[in-house]
Amino acid sequence: MIKIYAPASIGNINVGFDVLGVAISPENGELLGDCVTITSNNTLNFHNTGKFACQLPKNIKKNIIWKCWKHFCKIIGKKIPVSITLEKNMPIGSGLGSSACSISATLVAMNQFCNKPLDERKLLYLMGKIEGEISGEPHYDNVAPCYYGGLQLIINENNYISQGIPFFKNWIWIVAWPGIKISTSSARSILPLEYKTKTCIEHSRLLSGFIHASYTKQENLATQLMQDIIAEPYRMQLIPNFLEIKKSILKLGAINFGISGSGPTIFAICTSHVVAENTSKWLKENYLQNKTGFVHICKLDTKGTRNIGA
Ligand code: HSE
Repeated sequence: MIKIYAPASIGNINVGFDVLGVAISPENGELLGDCVTITSNNTLNFHNTGKFACQLPKNIKKNIIWKCWKHFCKIIGKKIPVSITLEKNMPIGSGLGSSACSISATLVAMNQFCNKPLDERKLLYLMGKIEGEISGEPHYDNVAPCYYGGLQLIINENNYISQGIPFFKNWIWIVAWPGIKISTSSARSILPLEYKTKTCIEHSRLLSGFIHASYTKQENLATQLMQDIIAEPYRMQLIPNFLEIKKSILKLGAINFGISGSGPTIFAICTSHVVAENTSKWLKENYLQNKTGFVHICKLDTKGTRNIGA
């Protein structure tokens, strides 16, 4: 039996639309991500369990784990009869890389089960392809951090899909999911097809400056440059009172704030535990819309997708 855990992730982190993402784990040691268990079997079997299994399609052929199994078997040229159980702990359409969790956990589990016929690059390429089928177009800013851990920059050049870059270890990441769904494809469809030259130049300045500040350990500079001029101006309409919430969170002392991936999860970065606790409390009281919503105080997850069972 193989049991694999894949962590939640925050895509874009404001400044790197589709090219930057971080994997996160709650500071209290809870697991915020999906688990996939594979056992050998004579026939093919799929099961869904976990808090959010009820959100999965009833038709198994529409389920991500089936798609992953199908693509994986096609590449290795053999249909592998296994029993796959997805523990769906991540809400779908939350902006926390829920589909990336299921994809990464399933493919890593299948690969381990079959004695690793696919190398890291091939696995990640396949993860991006399946993510693209689900969300409308391939983007690696959830699957890459989910798979490798850390802060990942999507390179997609010279045989590299993604590489880890330095991050500020003192940053505490707070994520708040209000308990409602926004599909990535709909949040992508409201973005402009083209941007003005001025916006492109400004985006280049912010992104390259952020990467520079990360390598040269200039924390304040990195924070100032961490602005989203690509998605936030259009997506904020999907999040009621976005600007008021942003103002309140920054007033509490958070050093940065934004939409996690395609939303509706929002994230805040703090450098003190007191501010993190206050921010978490404020978000619980003011941002959650129902009982399924949650707030987690997290740190960067540096391990990525990993084996957690026998
Ligand atoms: N970069 C993607 C987007 C992430 O913002 O559409 C989706 O979670």
